[in-house]
Amino acid sequence: MTVSPGDIKGLHKYEILLLKTLERLMKKYLWVPEENIRKSSRLSAAEMEYRLGQLMEKNMVKSSSVPYRGYQLTFSGYDALAVTSLVRNGTVTALGSLIGVGKESSVYEALGTGALVIKLHCIGQRSFQSARLNRGFMPEWSHFPWIFASTYSARQEFEALKALRKGGANVPIPIAVNRNVVAMSYIAGVNLHQAVLEEPRAVFDGIFENIKKAYELGFIHNDLSEFNVMVDGDTVWIIDWPQWIEPTHQNADDILLRDISNITTYFTKKYNIVESPEKIRDMITGKQ
Ligand SMILES: Nc1ncnc2c1ncn2[C@@H]1O[C@H](COP(=O)(O)OP(=O)(O)O)[C@@H](O)[C@H]1O
Ligand SMILES: [Mg+2]
Repeated sequence: MTVSPGDIKGLHKYEILLLKTLERLMKKYLWVPEENIRKSSRLSAAEMEYRLGQLMEKNMVKSSSVPYRGYQLTFSGYDALAVTSLVRNGTVTALGSLIGVGKESSVYEALGTGALVIKLHCIGQRSFQSARLNRGFMPEWSHFPWIFASTYSARQEFEALKALRKGGANVPIPIAVNRNVVAMSYIAGVNLHQAVLEEPRAVFDGIFENIKKAYELGFIHNDLSEFNVMVDGDTVWIIDWPQWIEPTHQNADDILLRDISNITTYFTKKYNIVESPEKIRDMITGKQ
């Protein structure tokens, strides 16, 4: 699901108030009763009715009439709250076009202090299961695993970007995280799978230098491939970090090897560079 920048810019202050009220009350109710929304938002019944209708037209809220009239935020409603907060606190001054849609995220160009992207994480029920095993936070969101999972995913990515950037790895600069949305610096490069490299060897080496640095900082990517590397000349960035694992993870060696093999296979096919993934793994882990 993707947000409409126009709909977000056009939100009335009472609509934002209602989105926030719903967000708060959804910790308690699966469908938030009309009466509770009215009391908590302090809007008149008529105003509330009208504004909820507007929000439903924008697909930011949905309603149920059984067993009583109640309302919920949708994914778009949650996205809208996150983006509105980033706009209000000055992180984002303009929202641009959609530049990437993956299975579990949408990425938009934006402006702030310089060129940014905002990445909206949207994770469904399945991925939530494993996240829940790892951490025990947010039990109050148990009705809404998608809110939990997407917020969790955004925080994981932000945490990785912060540590990696500080440690000198080439990743986007993390700027802010709000709910399920991460703001980071815009990379003026192209995805590796779309690039025609003049110096493939330099890029190949650059990728593994960064993966080694990340490993030493405590991060294994866990979804590394030509789709999650960006390049400009022979400068390399590794992107898309929410699913990282620690080197102490019980399957760390296999996962690291899979990450490496995805890259070596790609370089063998496209640029005829042949290197042993196991040797690269030993170089990265320091185990000879
Ligand atoms: N910081 C960034 N700068 C420029 N483009 C980006 C940036 N982050 C992501 N993108 C673009 O958006 C696409 C999707 O982002 P990514 O983080 O890989 O999410 P996912 O693959 O999970 O949807 C990327 O392949 C890339 O083209
Ligand atoms: Mg990706």
